[in-house]
Amino acid sequence: MTQHTVVLIAGDGIGPEVTQAVQRILEAAKAPVVWEEHPAGLAALERDLDVLPESTIEAIRHYGIALKGPCTTPVGKGFSSVNVQLRKQLDLYAAVRPVRTLPGVETRFEDVDLVIIRENTEGLYSGVENEVTPGVVMSMKVASDRGCRRIAHWAFRYATQRRREKITVFHKANIMKLTDGLFIRMAAEEHQREYPNIGYQEAIIDAGCMRLVQDPSQFDVLLLENLYGDVVSDLCAGLVGGLGVVPGANIGETQAVFEAVHGSAPDIAGKGVANPLALLMSAVMMLNYLADNRNDDACRSCAVKIRDAYDQALTDGCKTGDLRGELGTNEFADAVIERLS
Ligand code: NAI
Repeated sequence: MTQHTVVLIAGDGIGPEVTQAVQRILEAAKAPVVWEEHPAGLAALERDLDVLPESTIEAIRHYGIALKGPCTTPVGKGFSSVNVQLRKQLDLYAAVRPVRTLPGVETRFEDVDLVIIRENTEGLYSGVENEVTPGVVMSMKVASDRGCRRIAHWAFRYATQRRREKITVFHKANIMKLTDGLFIRMAAEEHQREYPNIGYQEAIIDAGCMRLVQDPSQFDVLLLENLYGDVVSDLCAGLVGGLGVVPGANIGETQAVFEAVHGSAPDIAGKGVANPLALLMSAVMMLNYLADNRNDDACRSCAVKIRDAYDQALTDGCKTGDLRGELGTNEFADAVIERLS
């Protein structure tokens, strides 16, 4: 059986707790992966390394795949986000975040099944900020033909491959006529040029958010620029049980980094109560990615086995505190391991 070397970045805050739980589950499921651990974020600074060491980036370039825990970013000061740097340096331009109702997790809506596709390298996240004059600061929103077109193309190709019916672009092109205007123009062009069979809609983001919380079944795949994708991901997480249950992938042409949507959750770090499911689901996406890109059936069957096991654990009422359950991080991991067939 082929063993795939995966770069593991444990991150900080709840990162090490949830990563260890996920590693344990993958090991019990006999996933064909070998971990190579690399530091980033606070964990790297504590070892007197750069916040994003070149060796970590090089390892991901070399092996093409990583599983990453969350990394804290200081608010309003300090170093710029490791997560953003990583996505930009590796040109991981497509963030994919499936949001689905899980068995045994009661929420306001049943059968939510959305996919968020977020442009990961441009927009206000370009990090170009300056002080124009004392008391006046500015952040620049960047959009390029190439960046907007490639994410639109990626989203339509994804929708086609996954047999999804419709893409809705959330935007604010009524106000940001150039940047968001370009984003929707490129999406509409890609739709007409290559993917006319997929449904296509545009929605101004404020009204779109209202419609999302009223009735998410109106939507299928959502395509958004960077900042909107960030915000709407957390909104959608709230529709299915919160940040503990939404996975993600950052995908480029030759590399992919899998990580949960949530952050380092400093309020619960070190307490052993964090939900490892979002990272576990990200690991399942990683196994499916390996199956698709390296033609490895063992990865696919392992992904199915793990998904069945966590669905069964949830159905049996095994849940962490964020889902109003009583299990801690490790107990939930044990419950999943017990259900691996
Ligand atoms: P957060 O996602 O860390 O936490 C928001 C709330 O959700 C908190 O109450 C937290 O306890 C809860 N939560 C999050 N994940 C959970 C889990 N697995 N199980 C149970 N509860 C969970 O967002 P916040 O507080 O805004 O950010 C904290 C730090 O994380 C910041 O420094 C931020 O920059 C960073 N961050 C990093 C990300 C990444 O590494 N990709 C993504 C988002 C935020």
